[in-house]
Amino acid sequence: MPARPVPLRIVVVGARGQLGAAVAHECGPVHETVALSRQELDVSDERAVTEAMARVKPDVIVNGAAYTDVDGSEDHPVDALNGNAFAARALARAALTHGAALVHYSTDFVFDGTGTRPYTEEDRPNPRSVYAASKLLGEWFALDAPRAYVLRVESLFGRAPGAGPAKGSVAGILNTLLAGGSPKVFEDRTVSPTYVIDAARATRHLVESSAPSGVYHCVNSGHVTWLGFAQELARQLGRPELIARLVPVRMADVTLRAARPRYCALSNDKLRSAGFEMPAWQDAVARFLRDAV
Ligand SMILES: NC(=O)c1ccc[n+]([C@@H]2O[C@H](COP(=O)([O-])OP(=O)(O)OC[C@H]3O[C@@H](n4cnc5c(N)ncnc54)[C@H](OP(=O)(O)O)[C@@H]3O)[C@@H](O)[C@H]2O)c1
Repeated sequence: MPARPVPLRIVVVGARGQLGAAVAHECGPVHETVALSRQELDVSDERAVTEAMARVKPDVIVNGAAYTDVDGSEDHPVDALNGNAFAARALARAALTHGAALVHYSTDFVFDGTGTRPYTEEDRPNPRSVYAASKLLGEWFALDAPRAYVLRVESLFGRAPGAGPAKGSVAGILNTLLAGGSPKVFEDRTVSPTYVIDAARATRHLVESSAPSGVYHCVNSGHVTWLGFAQELARQLGRPELIARLVPVRMADVTLRAARPRYCALSNDKLRSAGFEMPAWQDAVARFLRDAV
């Protein structure tokens, strides 16, 4: 039997978010886990962060909080900077004070999406929106912590057991299909989707390991267009006839306030080298549907 990890004192901030809730659920049974919602701690308030961390005295800080309104960030850049960058700086400073590890989440959007092979952690970011730039700045601030894991996730789907309804594009496509509608899906945007349950397990693995600090691509293995992903959802639902109801659209035909990267397959080889194998995205879809439908 594998040895039980030494219990850590883990504080999850933004703990009611899709990913924060999954991490709190994953770590809760094994570690002493303190889950703080936005109402309990506003991470953009540095003094509040300092005071909360002085009370908790964490071994690990997990930042599930973020300003995630990609289009809204174009009109509210200061909110995006506060929520995504200066919050990371405050948490990194608290991590330094308490000798804690910091886990921070970032995004594929730091890349411009003009690549032709899966991006690695060595590839140079080139953010094309305010949201993406604020997330890149947050990565840099987070990496100032003595032990920091910056996990880039992408197209998150799924939810923690007991959390609110699943959010995001995948839940939107699924719900529209099941309600008899015809969801529009990009046929020319390629992603490596991330199942929140797998990202939460990867998080736990890293904090329990002696993996080196740094940026890790934390996505399910493989990549697919949004149209391909939606077709797989229909197939795995046992409802292949729903595929005909998908409406393929091209990115150039849709006006969005903020630019999105077109090709954002991410390689998760570095995470594998750190001892955590992210399952294939098709396997994640199967587990998601088992729990969601
Ligand atoms: N969702 C995706 O597809 C996706 C893709 C790539 C990367 N990411 C990254 O993954 C991480 C987790 O995203 P998610 O989808 O789990 O986001 P989410 O479900 O929107 O959760 C974010 C949480 O942060 C909270 N929050 C916002 N501002 C806060 C503040 N100032 N102080 C404390 N809490 C605050 C939110 O509270 P309220 O709801 O009350 O505002 C919410 O509970 C983020 O870093 C995000 O940038 C997500």
